[in-house]
Amino acid sequence: MDVTTRQHCEALDAADPLREIRARFAPGVPGTLYFDANSVGAMPLTAPQRLQHLIGEWQSLRRRGWSESDWLAGPQRLGAKLAPLLGAAADEVVVCDTTSINLFKALAAAVQLRPGRHRIVSEAATFPTDLYVAQGLAGLREGVTLHLLEEGAAIEPAIDDDTIALSLSFVDYRSARRHDIRALTRAAHARGALVIWDLSHGAGAVACDLDAADADLAVGCGYKYLCGGPGGPAYIFAARRLHDAIRPALAGWMGHAAPFKFTTGYEPAPGMGRFLVATPAVLANAVFEAALDIWAAVDPRAVFRKHDALGDLLGALVDRGVGGPGVSVASPRAAERRGGFVALKHAGGAAVVAALADAGVIASFRAPDSLRFGLSALYHRHVDIWDAAARLGEVLRNETWRAPKYQQAKAI
Ligand SMILES: Cc1ncc(COP(=O)(O)O)c(C=O)c1O
Repeated sequence: MDVTTRQHCEALDAADPLREIRARFAPGVPGTLYFDANSVGAMPLTAPQRLQHLIGEWQSLRRRGWSESDWLAGPQRLGAKLAPLLGAAADEVVVCDTTSINLFKALAAAVQLRPGRHRIVSEAATFPTDLYVAQGLAGLREGVTLHLLEEGAAIEPAIDDDTIALSLSFVDYRSARRHDIRALTRAAHARGALVIWDLSHGAGAVACDLDAADADLAVGCGYKYLCGGPGGPAYIFAARRLHDAIRPALAGWMGHAAPFKFTTGYEPAPGMGRFLVATPAVLANAVFEAALDIWAAVDPRAVFRKHDALGDLLGALVDRGVGGPGVSVASPRAAERRGGFVALKHAGGAAVVAALADAGVIASFRAPDSLRFGLSALYHRHVDIWDAAARLGEVLRNETWRAPKYQQAKAI
């Protein structure tokens, strides 16, 4: 690919089947290039109207909103809209709570589905909240232990006949390394174990193909690549074949078969409804739905193809020196092994990311050395990648990142 010219990137944009979608997102501050899709995705243009509509309902309907509007159905309705992007069926996903809370539900379900087994297997470098949730859950159940694999250790040999589940990040939050959902699910199933995937750094960027992989359980953030809004709701997936056997540990009234009968005993709602716990986040759901209606208008395969190409482009520009001296690609080279962002490496670390922000390029840093560029096939153009690499090149060539004000830069 001849990526050394900006003109070539312009030609790629002109031929991009997704080029019109970008106009459905708010552009942000003029001149600023946002590469934080791995953290907080762009705002759909219709989000303020959606929110305003709900505010109007709140004002006029108040409690009648529960019966006269569709507030209560949000988790299932949004889940059905999200499902195709995950490679799942509409009745296998609900949008609710946070990733941490949904992971607790998924782990508790796995413990319940594999009685007599004791080990949850995860990776020490997994996103910390996932580890904390697993530690908390293991502490509640006599005999259940968390077995953590060191970085780079093979996962398959760690699965044994005592393994309840693998609890894994689909994509590593520092390196962007992507696990093979199909292969690891097959390996776990061969030993009778389940797999729980945290899809946060993959969903909306790369294919997850949950049903094709015969996946069991999965969770993920709504606010990253999916553009669900800051602090917006997360989602949980469970394969249909598991639904009836799961009796939730975190049982709440919204997951009850008949919440408004107010009975004393818990009886799980049919299907994914049982994973709901509490009153849906109606306002936040309205914002997330604005994004999901954009997702519904695109072919996920086109999204994944373009996402791969954008990541390859950034890597190629760094390799050819457009990104300046001393920087290299740290994430996997092969697109099929990489998740939603490209990780670069430079000795200046967080100071480079801070200086780059002043140069109008928003990226993020994760210690010890990951400069993360979160990519979105919905709103990034190839020229944006070129411009970001060129600005990085300036920051590194001029050594602006060495200024004292950047040395205290924090990783947030
Ligand atoms: C992989 C992963 N899982 C979970 C979370 C946290 O999710 P929540 O705050 O919704 O529980 C994050 C946050 O960045 C994350 O990167």
